[in-house]
Amino acid sequence: MADFYEFYPLRAHNTFGFDARARLAAHIRSESDLVSALSDPRAAGMPVVVLGGGSNVVLTGDLDACVLLMEIPGYDIAEDGADWLVTAGAGENWHNLVSRTVADGRAGLENLALIPGTAGAAPIQNIGAYGVELRDRFARLRAYDRQAREFVTLDLDACAFGYRDSLFKREGRDRYIITAVTLRLPKDWQPVLNYGELARELQDIASPSAAQVRDAVIAIRSRKLPDPAQIGNAGSFFKNPVVESVQRDALLAEHPALVSYPQPDGRYKLAAGWLIDQCGFKGLDDGPVGVYGKQALVLVHHGGGTGAALLKLANRIADTVQARFGVRIEPEPVIL
Ligand code: EPU
Repeated sequence: MADFYEFYPLRAHNTFGFDARARLAAHIRSESDLVSALSDPRAAGMPVVVLGGGSNVVLTGDLDACVLLMEIPGYDIAEDGADWLVTAGAGENWHNLVSRTVADGRAGLENLALIPGTAGAAPIQNIGAYGVELRDRFARLRAYDRQAREFVTLDLDACAFGYRDSLFKREGRDRYIITAVTLRLPKDWQPVLNYGELARELQDIASPSAAQVRDAVIAIRSRKLPDPAQIGNAGSFFKNPVVESVQRDALLAEHPALVSYPQPDGRYKLAAGWLIDQCGFKGLDDGPVGVYGKQALVLVHHGGGTGAALLKLANRIADTVQARFGVRIEPEPVIL
């Protein structure tokens, strides 16, 4: 039998800090905790919601669901030819994992420092920042397959990673529950410095170490992204939209300051933060919710508000951007 709580408060389990309760909740500290929660008759027929750090979700109300609070620990290093394989339990804090690997002399995750959330949540949206995405450092993961009722191993191809996207946001959404993630870190490490702002931050250091790259990323993020411990937020609220090159060229002709990045497939990614900023939303206060003053892509909750009010603001922003630029921006977090 699982250790269930009833009407469990989730405010401390989502970085927006919205008040919502779960009909049932359980702390999952091992794979056997997971199996026993899923097979418990009290949860039969109820939707299952998996929460890691709650840093990429919007809770719009109470959840008539069985919420699994993923806290499975674990940290292990193995060798595979030219690479280190680092395996982390799904419940490990992502930033602590980055720090620990760098401190242990296993470089490769430093560009992903300070991203809130857990190791088990990282593959779901294929976290990425400053020129590196999780998929660039990914070997495999272990998950419970709720359809087959068994634990499975999924490799890089199986996870079908895309920009802020994966199998787990699409077909696999209610099927797999990630319990451990294995990262592939090259022994012959080279810093990834192709993101302009990071290169500028490190311009005075000839060949930066992984620790120096990590510190630079921490410095940049701390300057422009709010700390969820202080201001409720879920990082970027919108994905950067990807458009055809003809559309980007037309927009650029009309708006010479447009920020865009060429993609490998010939299309262009537009900086949604710039689009929102141009519409005048940066720093907007809409009662308890608003737009962060230093990064227009980040929506914030100052306390006492609801996920529904935040979504209303998000729709208003998306509609205004669409009317002005003809581009639809889509939310990045999972809306529950
Ligand atoms: N910009 C503005 N105004 C703003 C915000 C941005 O003009 O209010 C412009 C900036 O001047 C810059 C461009 O937009 O030229 C891009 O801004 P930034 O470098 O801050 O990156 P981003 O595209 O806004 C993305 C990720 C971040 C990630 C950074 C660094 C998405 C949705 N967001 O933000 O990821 O940290 O790049 O790689 O892809 C997250 O996913 O939660 C997240 C924070």
